[in-house]
Parts: sequence; structure tokens; C-alpha cells
Amino acid sequence: MVVLGIETSCDDTAASVLARRADGTLEVLSSVVSSQIDLHARYGGVVPEVASRAHIDRIIPVLAEAMREAHVQRGDLDAIAATIGPGLVGSLLVGVSAAKALSLVWGVPFVGVNHLEGHLFAPLLEEQDVAFPLLVLLVSGGHTMLLGMFGPGDYRLMGRTLDDAAGEAFDKVARYLGLGYPGGPVIDRLATEGDLSAIAFPRSMLHDGLDFSFSGLKTSVVNYVRRHPEVAATDVAASFQEAAVDVLVHKARLAASQIGAVGMSLAGGVAANTRLRARWAAAAKADGRRAHLPSLAYCTDNAAMVAAAGLWRLAELGPTPLDCGVDPNLSLAALL
Ligand code: KG4
Ligand code: ZN
Repeated sequence: MVVLGIETSCDDTAASVLARRADGTLEVLSSVVSSQIDLHARYGGVVPEVASRAHIDRIIPVLAEAMREAHVQRGDLDAIAATIGPGLVGSLLVGVSAAKALSLVWGVPFVGVNHLEGHLFAPLLEEQDVAFPLLVLLVSGGHTMLLGMFGPGDYRLMGRTLDDAAGEAFDKVARYLGLGYPGGPVIDRLATEGDLSAIAFPRSMLHDGLDFSFSGLKTSVVNYVRRHPEVAATDVAASFQEAAVDVLVHKARLAASQIGAVGMSLAGGVAANTRLRARWAAAAKADGRRAHLPSLAYCTDNAAMVAAAGLWRLAELGPTPLDCGVDPNLSLAALL
């Protein structure tokens, strides 16, 4: 089976060709991502209209490159999978329209994929022997969730943020400190030179179930910097990051023990965070669980994860009808 995946839910135009061998192993033949960060950075965040127009310019070259790199022709494809939500409506429409058009013209089945389910497939792209149940922490710019994954398609939502997503907190703190967009990578870098115990930022809801809250942490960083304008940005970055990572890791361990998880996996853009990855590996080791840390390229938005989720959906549920629309608010609940 060879699947072409397409991902355009936010500000990355991505296409990938993924193969499933006869023995069930997955092989990413190509994964092309054209980032629009340069276009949005000056606005301090993603501008939806700018994003949709950039997707239109880039989708065909990105698709062509993914096919070329994978050395496949249209006749080699068994399916075309595209993210149908959640995301920005204009952005989603570009990828889904391209996928449907190719599906019709090439006579290949179309599969609509939930972007969040795509992120859950990231650990399966590189490791062939993932055992379940798996505890997955999905942390991105739009989502922060703890999920029990009992197998592909079999999920239990265990906790989620009640306000800001973790990545949103990184982005907002960075914006307040004048560090640019996206904030996560900059804070990650600065934090390596700072003292993580310099400032005692709050660990919101630490002993309060499996849900998260990050808006109080963000406000306390802003208030602290206002009162101490001379503070080193490196110390603020390291202390803020530690407070966020503390809560994420603490609750993930709790959730993992509740489901008797064999392994713990990170997914989503914030999973690229160096400190979170180090603490995650240490926590898993201490608890006798296997740590799954997908490569950075499969943590942030990419189309290989969409192709993998699409492949599985196609096998279980068959193709998606071509009159299916996009859903900017598609939730994971649709899959539970
Ligand atoms: O999954 P993703 O690429 O897009 C969404 O679906 O949201 O995640 C983007 C988010 C942004 O908030 C970005 O600041 C954050 O992931 N991020 C990071 C790091 N790299 C990206 N956050 C913390 N540390 C990083 N190294
Ligand atoms: Zn994402």
C-alpha cells in the first residue's frame, strides 16, 4: 500500500508518501514541509488569509516534490489522505480540494483525516514495535491533551487544558518578552542558558486531576517581568519552561499509571521541546515504561502522520465520500 498524505491545516504546506510493506511495517518515502513562518513572523502569529493564499501557491510544487523524492508515479498510489480538520477553514480547503481533485482525476480513493489523530500516529512512523496501551501527551499550539491509546483508533481522553494550550503559553510569553514568533523554539534555546529555579512560577492545578491550565502561568510571567524589568530573559525562559514541563510530566505519569501504560509518547509541536523530552525520558525510565520520542520533524505538523492515520482509516472504514466537507472545529471526540 502506498499513500499520499496532505496536510494544510495551519501554516505548513506538507505532502508525504508513505508505504506499508507486506509485513505491516511503515516506511516514509518522502515528507516535504514548506513552512510559512517567515510570512507570519512579522504579525506575531498566523494570519489566516495569508496562510490560505500561501497554501495555494505552494501545494502543487510541494506535492510534486513529495512524489519525486519518493520515486512514485500516480499509478503507484493506493489512496490520497488529507487533513479535514481541525484547523483554519481556508487552509484546510486548499489541501482537501487538491486531494479530492487528484482522487477524481487519478481514480484513487480519498480519505479524510482528523489532524489530532494524525499527531497520535507520529510514534508509529519510526518504531515498528510500539506496544499498547500507550499514554500520549499531545501538546501543540492549539491543543494540550492526555490520551490513552489502546491501539490505532482506540482512544480515551483523560485530560485536557481548560484554557490556553501549552504551545500558546510559550508563544504568548515569547511575544511579551519580544522574542518573536513562534515562541517555543526561542524559549527552548534561551532556557538552556538560564537558571530554571531562578523564579518560582506557579504549577497550576498540579494536584488537581488530569486537566491543565496554562493561562495563570502566562499571566504570572507577565506580572513578574513587569515588576522586575531588569530580570534576565534566560532565567524567565528557563523558569517558565520548567513550570510548564513540571505539570505536563507530573500529570502524564499519573495518567500512564491509571491505564497501566506500557509506553509514554509525546506528540505535537511542543514535543520538540528539549527539556520536555529529557524529563519525559527520565520519567518513563523511573516508572519502568518505554519512552517514545518521535523525531522533531514528526512532532511538528507534517503529512507523514496524516498518511499513516489515513492508511489505517482506509483499512478500517473505507474511503471518505468526496462530498465530505472540512470542519475547522473537528474534535477528537468524533473518534472516541
Ligand atoms: O503541532 P504544531 O506544529 O502546530 C499545531 O498544530 O499547533 O505546534 C506548534 C506549536 C507552537 O506553539 C510552537 O511554539 C510550539 O509548537 N513549539 C515548541 C517548540 N517547537 C515548537 N514549544 C516549545 N519548545 C519547542 N522547541
Ligand atoms: Zn498540529
